[in-house]
Amino acid sequence: MATCYLSPSKSVTIPLQTNLFTSTPKPVFGLRCNLSLPSKTSLITGEPAPLYSSVKTFAPATVANLGPGFDFLGCAVDGMGDFVALNVDPHVHPGEISISAISGNNVGKLSKNPLRNCAGIAAIEVMKMLGIRSVGLSLMLEKGLPLGSGLGSSAASAAAAAVAVNEIFGNKLGFEELVLAGLKSEEKVSGYHADNVAPAIMGGFVLIRSYEPLDLIQLKFPNDKQLFFVLVSPDFEAPTKQMRAALPAEIGMSHHVWNCSQAGALVASVLQGDLLGLGKALSSDKIVEPRRAPLIPGMEGVKKAAMEAGAFGCTISGAGPTAVAVTDNEERGKEIGKLMVEAFLKGGKLQASATVKQLDRVGARLVSSIKI
Ligand code: HSE
Repeated sequence: MATCYLSPSKSVTIPLQTNLFTSTPKPVFGLRCNLSLPSKTSLITGEPAPLYSSVKTFAPATVANLGPGFDFLGCAVDGMGDFVALNVDPHVHPGEISISAISGNNVGKLSKNPLRNCAGIAAIEVMKMLGIRSVGLSLMLEKGLPLGSGLGSSAASAAAAAVAVNEIFGNKLGFEELVLAGLKSEEKVSGYHADNVAPAIMGGFVLIRSYEPLDLIQLKFPNDKQLFFVLVSPDFEAPTKQMRAALPAEIGMSHHVWNCSQAGALVASVLQGDLLGLGKALSSDKIVEPRRAPLIPGMEGVKKAAMEAGAFGCTISGAGPTAVAVTDNEERGKEIGKLMVEAFLKGGKLQASATVKQLDRVGARLVSSIKI
């Protein structure tokens, strides 16, 4: 059994089969959580030596934007994500990293050049932050998430890699530094946005209050509330770079006021565990969704179908094409998902698959490790 700290005062025990922490568990709260727990600050005095010869990490899928929170709100969802296995490797030049294998979804599309791979870029950044010059690493990436799906695929790879490097050298860096490393990767592959990589690393709901300097606020969703995400992914790729290019450069004051008030309502609803309010706010974006929905065949009908089926709210997950709806009941979630799949076929002539997931409150984590 391993203990996972959920708040400064509470902890729960999680069976090792479901959550394989094998070293010091890290707090779930990040920088400025709503209980004002400070972030861990790094105290690196010289190059750290590796504590492990190998580690394996996991980072979850994420839903970015959550409607009105374009680039500043996101959350992690459980049960889907990417794995990274990282080894100290004497065959790799000291201070460098090599990607030895990529398996899983869309492997043919991913480069093994670490400078062109989300996991590689984030890993290199963490090595730089730690000042690693004497040890070479080899990395294996196992993609559980499809590319360009709107589920934070690139962020999950970056988060798992950043956490793996940090863990192998004794967990010296805090959330903020790991998110900054992940941001370097996001910047190169999709755009400078942390609303996937921050929740992928920290778990739960995260608000990016500022980028310069990075200021992250973890939003605690009450433990006793049930929240289900219905994620419906059509057979269609929506590269984030292209979906960002479709957005307006400027917006009018009325849309600014509307979206800000809806984002505020969304934050309040998350903290209060108010699912109706959360769904209403999630559905309310007047700036980004109206530009992107027409680029995803069938999306307008899918949202309508979700709402008619009783979802509390529905929008595009991240840059799409996945549609996300929220509900408080798993069975109803499955029913909503079925109708959304049908709507993608009817309105967009797209095959789609649905899954119902809960909030991931943990974020990127160590799955297993071997001591040196
Ligand atoms: N905020 C980003 C976007 C998320 O919507 O472009 C991409 O997953």
